[in-house]
Amino acid sequence: MAGDSKPEVTEMAGVGAAAARPGFGSRVGTHFKRWWWVYLIGLIVVVLVVVLPVVYVAYPKIAQHLVNESNLTVSMMDLSDPSPTSFVLNQTNIIGTNSSFHPTIYSFSGGVSLAGLAAFAHVQIPKFNAHNGVVVEVNQRVNLTNETAFADFCRAAIMSEEFQLNVYGRPGLKQGGLPKKPVTYNHTATMKGFNKLQGFELLDMHIGTNNSDGTNANGYVYIPNPSVISIALGNLTLNLAVNNTAIGQAYIYDLTLRPGNNTVPMTANVSELTVAGMLSNYPDYILPIDITGNSTVYNNQVIPYIAGALAELELRAELNVTQALSG
Ligand SMILES: *[C@@H]1O[C@H](CO)[C@@H](O)[C@H](O)[C@H]1NC(C)=O
Ligand SMILES: *[C@@H]1O[C@H](CO)[C@@H](O)[C@H](O)[C@H]1NC(C)=O
Ligand SMILES: *[C@@H]1O[C@H](CO)[C@@H](O)[C@H](O)[C@H]1NC(C)=O
Ligand SMILES: *[C@@H]1O[C@H](CO)[C@@H](O)[C@H](O)[C@H]1NC(C)=O
Ligand SMILES: *[C@@H]1O[C@H](CO)[C@@H](O)[C@H](O)[C@H]1NC(C)=O
Ligand SMILES: *[C@@H]1O[C@H](CO)[C@@H](O)[C@H](O)[C@H]1NC(C)=O
Ligand SMILES: *[C@@H]1O[C@H](CO)[C@@H](O)[C@H](O)[C@H]1NC(C)=O
Ligand SMILES: *[C@@H]1O[C@H](CO)[C@@H](O)[C@H](O)[C@H]1NC(C)=O
Ligand SMILES: *[C@@H]1O[C@H](CO)[C@@H](O)[C@H](O)[C@H]1NC(C)=O
Ligand SMILES: *[C@@H]1O[C@H](CO)[C@@H](O)[C@H](O)[C@H]1NC(C)=O
Ligand SMILES: *[C@@H]1O[C@H](CO)[C@@H](O)[C@H](O)[C@H]1NC(C)=O
Ligand SMILES: *[C@@H]1O[C@H](CO)[C@@H](O)[C@H](O)[C@H]1NC(C)=O
Repeated sequence: MAGDSKPEVTEMAGVGAAAARPGFGSRVGTHFKRWWWVYLIGLIVVVLVVVLPVVYVAYPKIAQHLVNESNLTVSMMDLSDPSPTSFVLNQTNIIGTNSSFHPTIYSFSGGVSLAGLAAFAHVQIPKFNAHNGVVVEVNQRVNLTNETAFADFCRAAIMSEEFQLNVYGRPGLKQGGLPKKPVTYNHTATMKGFNKLQGFELLDMHIGTNNSDGTNANGYVYIPNPSVISIALGNLTLNLAVNNTAIGQAYIYDLTLRPGNNTVPMTANVSELTVAGMLSNYPDYILPIDITGNSTVYNNQVIPYIAGALAELELRAELNVTQALSG
């Protein structure tokens, strides 16, 4: 066969294709009719050798790379209706990617944690198409998988200026007509916390009022919330003290801290006798009040993870007693 074709090539090169023997076309046809299966097997082998590594080696790597190179931003996180073992999570996530591939990420169970700690809950993340800026909404009741870890999360959210929220899972990824492949989703979003409720103030306090809940003082608390987190704290009881002497307790009903500035009504039971006794130490009658969390109750249940975070909270507010007693 090799000996057969060599002179033919020389001839074609010298005289040109037009001068080829008339039998050439039919000879090629005969050749293919006889040997087509060799070419077919060759083609299949080439396709397999090229395609298999692409599909089974390169594609999973590229798929994982796509996921690795994306980022996660939490633009809204709403924790509501808490019970000791669960809560409702309404969260908006935004995926950032510079890739020109826009694979489908299938719904998966994502473990949510403070980066580095155990997951406190597992959230069903819905299916989405991974293009830049895609908004992934989660809104479901989630069971706590680790109460200690969730107490740690609540503490971090309330006490810190910034914290790291991690989402971990093994979703399926599918690009175009390629098969679905499992990938590891492991991303951490940096989130602002409540920063110890810095900026907290008592507003318009009055002592000596008769409130419907049987207390004798009322006013408003101003609580700035620089985060994107909204959290339902329920019926909150706070301890009030001046220079380590208890002067009473304050109550905030149905408190939900929302992003931005919160101004909410507060009532308090203040021992007027104790306050009167200490005024001589404060010539301008401005008392520095230390406020600490006592308890929180939601639907008649103590919510331990919120109570734990509030117990560490120490707030200081100034009370102008002259003003509070007038009117
Ligand atoms: C993805 O990231 C993980 C950990 O960050 C790393 O171990 C892995 O090699 C990365 N995979 C690819 C394909 O980039
Ligand atoms: C995409 O590119 C921009 C500009 O180069 C960069 O700032 C950004 O971090 C990149 N995003 C990701 C997810 O890597
Ligand atoms: C979830 O949050 C979004 C954005 O704040 C809001 O529009 C939506 O009504 C919330 N869903 C529920 C069930 O609260
Ligand atoms: C996330 O990725 C998007 C798109 O690449 C980019 O615009 C954005 O700045 C990134 N965000 C963060 C926090 O890295
Ligand atoms: C949460 O727990 C309750 C009761 O323990 C169960 O009925 C419910 O299916 C659980 N929900 C999820 C999403 O696992
Ligand atoms: C629960 O979380 C705590 C605090 O992060 C951790 O020490 C503990 O090992 C976790 N428990 C389980 C069962 O993962
Ligand atoms: C997620 O990634 C971080 C940092 O890249 C790593 O420390 C952590 O172990 C990973 N999580 C899991 C569950 O593998
Ligand atoms: C919150 O109040 C501060 C002043 O106390 C003001 O500067 C700020 O703009 C307010 N923020 C919002 C979101 O209203
Ligand atoms: C605070 O209490 C301490 C003793 O407990 C006392 O010595 C101090 O004078 C008090 N300060 C004021 C401003 O009352
Ligand atoms: C909460 O207040 C009660 C009095 O009403 C007090 O006995 C208790 O020690 C306080 N608990 C905390 C944790 O401050
Ligand atoms: C708070 O207390 C009030 C009055 O006791 C009650 O009506 C309300 O349901 C309580 N709120 C929560 C969230 O438990
Ligand atoms: C306290 O309130 C009184 C009465 O409203 C006012 O005259 C006084 O200036 C206030 N003191 C301070 C330090 O603001």
